Amino acid sequence: MKLFVVDGARCTRCRACIEECPARIIALADRRSLPETVPGGEERCIGCGHCVAVCPYGALSLTAMPVEDCPLIGVDLVGNPGQAEQFLRARRSIRAYKKQPVERTTIERLIEIARHAPSGHNAQPLEWLVVHDERQTRRLAGLVVDWMRGILRDFPEQAKAVHMDLIIAGWETGVDAVLRGAPHLIVCHASKDNIMARSAGTIALAYLELAAPSMGLGTCWAGFFDAALGLYAPLAEALGLPGGHGGFGAVMLGYPRHRYHRLPLRKPAKITWR
Ligand SMILES: Cc1cc2nc3c(=O)[nH]c(=O)nc-3n(C[C@H](O)[C@H](O)[C@H](O)COP(=O)(O)O)c2cc1C
Repeated sequence: MKLFVVDGARCTRCRACIEECPARIIALADRRSLPETVPGGEERCIGCGHCVAVCPYGALSLTAMPVEDCPLIGVDLVGNPGQAEQFLRARRSIRAYKKQPVERTTIERLIEIARHAPSGHNAQPLEWLVVHDERQTRRLAGLVVDWMRGILRDFPEQAKAVHMDLIIAGWETGVDAVLRGAPHLIVCHASKDNIMARSAGTIALAYLELAAPSMGLGTCWAGFFDAALGLYAPLAEALGLPGGHGGFGAVMLGYPRHRYHRLPLRKPAKITWR
């Protein structure tokens, strides 16, 4: 089957598809020909769709990605630099959540955006596990606290350096400083030996965090949970990822109790120019 088809009536031979193809598998035999796949190119295509997306004339369709299925970019929705800066700087880690659960359809919309994050070689290795039942979320937080108790016993200095002693003490008085009382937890997972998965999970969850406020939602990275998942078998068992899969990032999710009014400051960038 052909990798792509080009509408000869629309193609102007502008070469954008050729120059933007990451695998360099598109060529023109001569100035009058239509773009075609170089010999052996089919096997090297990573299915990124750049050829379809960059064509100004809608002339190229991948067999697996027809141009009609790829929405036009809404130029009026592209923010200016000030909007982009505010959008990015106003994202906050949320640590106080309402009891109100988030509808599954809303979480699906969020993941629908996050799954468009970049991944090495366009491998798209991630799957998503949503802990929607708040009782399960608390149970998982409790298992992270159990893991911390073991670390505090065996490596007290390291445990105290990251305040595990305080987190355990808080848990015992009803304060969840692990998953912050969030009703839900979203975990990215993939095959344990997928070398693209860690970066893919990190970026996808960054997308998810950035998209969440537009839906009235708050998130926070669940770093303790993420660490415990790789190290504490009872937690992995309770989460029940598919066989051979590991966690590659997790965030808490819920409706924030508070709204932020200012942009906090951060360390200045240390830049070296060469
Ligand atoms: C990898 C990673 C793990 C984190 N783990 C936790 C965590 O377990 N609990 C928590 O409350 N915040 C966690 N955070 C949130 C950071 O503390 C937060 O990003 C930082 O304080 C800056 O605040 P901001 O995200 O609102 O800018 C984590 C952030 C990252 C990037």
